[in-house]
This record gives sequence, structure tokens and C-alpha cells, in this order.
Amino acid sequence: MIPKATVESIVETARIDEVVGDFVNLRKRGSTLVGLCPFHNERSPSFAVSPSKGIYKCFGCGKAGDSVNFVMEHEHYTYPEALRYLANKYNIEIVEEIKTDEQKIADLEKESLYAINDFAAKFYHQNLETTEGQAIGKAYFYERGFTDATIEKFQLGYSPDAWSTFTDEATKNAYNISNLEKAGLTIIKEEKKYDRFRGRVMFPIYNLTGRTIAFGARILKTDPHQPKYVNSPESDIYKKNKSLYGINFAKKSITVNDTCYLCEGYTDVISLHQAGIENSVSSSGTSLTVDQIKLIARYTQHITVLYDGDAAGIKASMRGIDMILQEGLNVRIVLFPDGDDPDSYSKKVSTEELKLFLTDSARDFILFKTELLLSEAGNDPLRKAALIKDIVESISKIPDAIIRATYTKQCAIAMEIDEQVLLIELNKLRSKSAQQTHRDNETAIEETQQIPIAEEIPQTEDNAFYQEQEVMRLILNYGDHNIVIGDDNIDIQPYKVVDFIVSELMGDEISFDDELLAQMLNLCHEIYASKKTFHVDLFTKQQDDMALREKAIGLITTQYTLSEGWEQRGIFTRTEDKHLRHAVLSALYTLKMKKVMQMLKETGLELKTAFDDGNEYDDIMLKYQQLESIKMELSKYLSIVIVK
Ligand code: CTP
Ligand code: MN
Repeated sequence: MIPKATVESIVETARIDEVVGDFVNLRKRGSTLVGLCPFHNERSPSFAVSPSKGIYKCFGCGKAGDSVNFVMEHEHYTYPEALRYLANKYNIEIVEEIKTDEQKIADLEKESLYAINDFAAKFYHQNLETTEGQAIGKAYFYERGFTDATIEKFQLGYSPDAWSTFTDEATKNAYNISNLEKAGLTIIKEEKKYDRFRGRVMFPIYNLTGRTIAFGARILKTDPHQPKYVNSPESDIYKKNKSLYGINFAKKSITVNDTCYLCEGYTDVISLHQAGIENSVSSSGTSLTVDQIKLIARYTQHITVLYDGDAAGIKASMRGIDMILQEGLNVRIVLFPDGDDPDSYSKKVSTEELKLFLTDSARDFILFKTELLLSEAGNDPLRKAALIKDIVESISKIPDAIIRATYTKQCAIAMEIDEQVLLIELNKLRSKSAQQTHRDNETAIEETQQIPIAEEIPQTEDNAFYQEQEVMRLILNYGDHNIVIGDDNIDIQPYKVVDFIVSELMGDEISFDDELLAQMLNLCHEIYASKKTFHVDLFTKQQDDMALREKAIGLITTQYTLSEGWEQRGIFTRTEDKHLRHAVLSALYTLKMKKVMQMLKETGLELKTAFDDGNEYDDIMLKYQQLESIKMELSKYLSIVIVK
């Protein structure tokens, strides 16, 4: 704990222009100072600092605060970390309030582990300059194309090919043998002490603030009896699942670029950094963990996963990617050609080409997954069904309902299936996982109790009730409105919404399955045929059929109450009108799609029966194919309507 008085004196002393000035080039403009905002990419300065008020504010991205906030935001420090940083900058002594003895001991132990790892990193790095180190370690790094600057930046090193050179040196420097063992640098077996890392090139692993916490050590020659990498075991300061290789060097660049490149190995990270792509980290061989994702999420909501392109490897890591989605982050993916990885590819092309490649070939993960699985499934209906489950599983992980809905639409189009099919699966999965969460939380819910999650449209696969209802809703609310269908450039007579819909449905011989809705549609037919003027009163005020009247009122009330208020101000109707044509077309085509899907299913069954019974099936086949091509047309059309 930092005492309150000390906090106050830190806040008083830390001048905003000086604190910010350490990171941002500030120029005077009037009574304020301006510079390029460190929190987002910009070319002309919109970041302002007011020394008199002690605050900063970016007029581009909106970030604002005082000195402490700036340090927290910029360095991703916690509040006490920021205070400590400022105290250090201004030489303010922090006399910590009393800690318990246990706390003190734990702190001391951690501190000694940091010190030992730090000593080891220096030792291995300096060892690159010995004759052996130069001939073997340095030569290896050069051969891989690492520059001296890169070797310095990552403090790469070499461990002598001998039993205990490091341990001897460390004990000579008064490092305690039990701590050497705890840090995983020395192995003690039957009274014998020897180095864990021998004759390998060394990659120090850093924590967020850049302290060495562990090592990865790579073998130089291929040896089937030896692991390619030997890594430090976990310790009080190194938790494999919580660390990301390169994060200390990458964090700033991740913030500025608002993207994090995630790759597989140490060498990938190093090569990308060498090529100037500093927003790269690696999970170092382990499959990604939630903690690692949360670490990245402190800096950006966008992860781009870099894969060396073999399909098997990609499919294996797809579950890990679902986890990223679950954390609410956006995932894109880049596939490297011909078995290249970021490391090897970066050596083949110029930095500019590499940057271009990374931006140009990054694909949205869910759409990528859909296409990959689609290409594998081909026309096999069983595999296609499995694929739908698989994709929906990914989508169901996304916490944001709007993003989920967008993906559902896009994937339905890519798969050329009815969006409803995906929605039904999605509902199943989400209600299942909601029940699971409740059980996990051990809330007092009986096992048998169902928790329906009905945020997506509930529907059974076979009826078109909701599509029919949506079409009728549009007729009742906007039947007498005009819409222009066809080429916008030619001055054609507009249609009344009701006439357009009725003629379209008649043309395709579509009737409604729902009885009440079918009756309403009949009424529309009558109006259409007798050239009467459409008016909603014909439905809402008619006396013969109470059920129909109530249904009609039900369909217009939400809109009607809303539009009354808005209409007076002239806002609602105008925006609705602008979208009316779009709304009518997509409702109509979605309904047609649903009907076609139903017919396809029926015809498919007919086809199967005819085939099984050994009957003639050419005609049925023809019908099936015609329906298929209508479906194709519709999905093309729907994709245009939806995108608009
Ligand atoms: N890894 C490991 N132990 C192994 C193999 C791999 O810890 N026996 C981890 C390392 O962190 C490695 C990452 O998995 O960086 C990816 O493995 P790989 O692609 O095989 O290693 P690279 O670092 O790419 O090594 P190189 O390019 O030198 O083959
Ligand atoms: Mn590699």
C-alpha cells in the first residue's frame, strides 16, 4: 500500500507536460501543447495537453485524463504501478505501509527469482561472444538471418555445451542453489548439480514489463532423441499459460495498430519484429489459453492468427479460436502459402511485401471456416449438416447478439441455405450452454427446468409462419405506400406495396400455410382484383371475423404506436420509407426462399421414394433441379438485398 500522503504528493508533483513529454513530441499552440496522439494512428496532431489544468485530451479518439491516467493508459499499468512509475520519475520516496511477514517473504522469493533469471540472461547473451558461442550460437542466428540488432533486442544467447558451466558461475556469484533449482536453471539429481540448458541457443522469455522470467532453448542440429526446444519449468514468476512471447516488445505497437498478430513460435515473433511488424506475439507452442487472450484484450479487440498453411493444422486449432470469439474479440486469419511460416516467409519477401501480404490476405475467421468446411463437404448432405453444426457452434460463442446475427446472415448466404436453419441450431446451442452455465454456477435450478433463450426467432424448421407474418405486417402497415421497383433511372410508375406483394405471390403461386394469415391474404386478393383502394381499416375495423381483426391490430400496433409520435416530428415515416423497398423485397424473397426450401425437401423425398420403388423419376429430378436453380437465384438476390 502506498500511503495517502505520498499519493497526493506524487499527483501534485507530476506535471502533465513532462509526463506526456516523455512519450509524445509536444509543440506549443497558445496556452496548450499539441502532438500526435499515442493512442491512435494519426498524421495531424489532435492530442492536446493543458499544463494549467493538468490534463490531456485527444480530440481524435477521445482519450483524456491526468498524469496518472496517462501513464496507466500508455504503459498499461495498474493504478499503483502508475504511481510507482511517477514516484520513481520524480524521486519521491515511497515508504510502504506495513506488509505481513508472509507477503515480505513471497516478495523476496519472487525478487530473487527475477534476479537469477536476469543474471542467466546476461550470462547466456555474453556467452555468444566466446569462441564456442561465436562459432556455434552466433553463426546459427546469422544463418537464420537474425541481425545483431535483433540479437541485442531479444537478448538471444548461447548455453555452453558442458555440464555445469552456468551453475558454477552462478554459485560463484553468490546465487543460492535452491533458488537456481526453483528457477529451473539448475537440475539437482542424486547430489549432482547440472545445467538444464546445454549447447543450445537461448531465447529469454519476458513478462509484460520486460523482466526475464524463463527461457526457451533450441537445439542446433536435428536429433530425433532430443527435443527441439527445452523450456524453463513453471515457477512463482513464470506461468506458461499466462505468458505470451514478445508481449513486452509488442504491446505499444498492438495498441497503435489496434491489431495483434498471433503466431506459433519464438522465431516467428523475432522475424516479424525484425521486419518491422512489432505487433506480434506467440503462444509458444501451447494451445491458446483464456488468460493469454485476456492479456491481448488489454491492448486490442482484434487478433489476426498467422498460420502456416496446412489444413490439418488449421482444423486442429479451430477450437482455440472459438475461445477468442468467446472472449468477444474479432478474429481474422492469415494463411501462409506452401508450408511457409511467418519466419520463413518474412525472409523471402521485402518488408513492404510482407506488410501488404498480412493486410491483404487476412480473412474473417468465421467466413474462412465456412468456406474451408464447405469445400470439404462438397455436396454430401451429411457432411453439410455436420458443417452447419460446426459453424453455428463458433457463432454461438460470440457474446454480441448483433455480430452473431450478421454472421448468421452471411454464413447462410455462403452456404446457400435458409437463415432459419442456422437460427434454429443457434437457439438450441445457446439455450444448452446457458443451462450449462447455470449448472456450473450451481444456482438453485432444478435439473429438469428449461431455460429458453429466445432472442433469436424461434421457429420449427417446417413452417414459414414468421416469413408469412412479416410479409403481412408490411402489407398492413405500408400497403398504400408507393415503392419503385426496377431500374431507378427510368421514370416508371411506382407500385402500391400491397399490389406489388400480391402480384408477386400470385405469380409464383404462393399461398400462406397459416390459416389466419391466409385469410388476410385472400382479402388482399379481393382488394387487388376489384381495384378497391387498400386501407388498413378493411382489416382492423371489419366486424365479421374477430380473430382476423385482432390479428391485424396485433400486427400494426407496435409500429403504429411508435409511428404516431414520430410522425408528428416527421422522422419515423421518412426513414421507414427510405428502407421500405428494401424491407419489402427482403421479406418477400425470404418468404420465397423458405417456400422453395420446403418444396425442395418434399421433392427430395418424392425423388427418394420413386428411386427406392424403382419408378420413373426423370420428371421429379427435373423439378428438383429447377427448384435448386431458383434457390440459387434467390440466395444471390438475398445476398444483395442484405448487403444493401
Ligand atoms: N515448442 C516447444 N517444444 C518443442 C517444440 C516446440 O516448446 N519441442 C514451442 C516453441 O515455443 C516453438 C513453438 O512451439 O517456438 C513452435 O514450434 P516450431 O514451429 O516447431 O518451432 P520454431 O520456433 O518455429 O522453430 P524453427 O523455426 O527453428 O523450427
Ligand atoms: Mn519456424
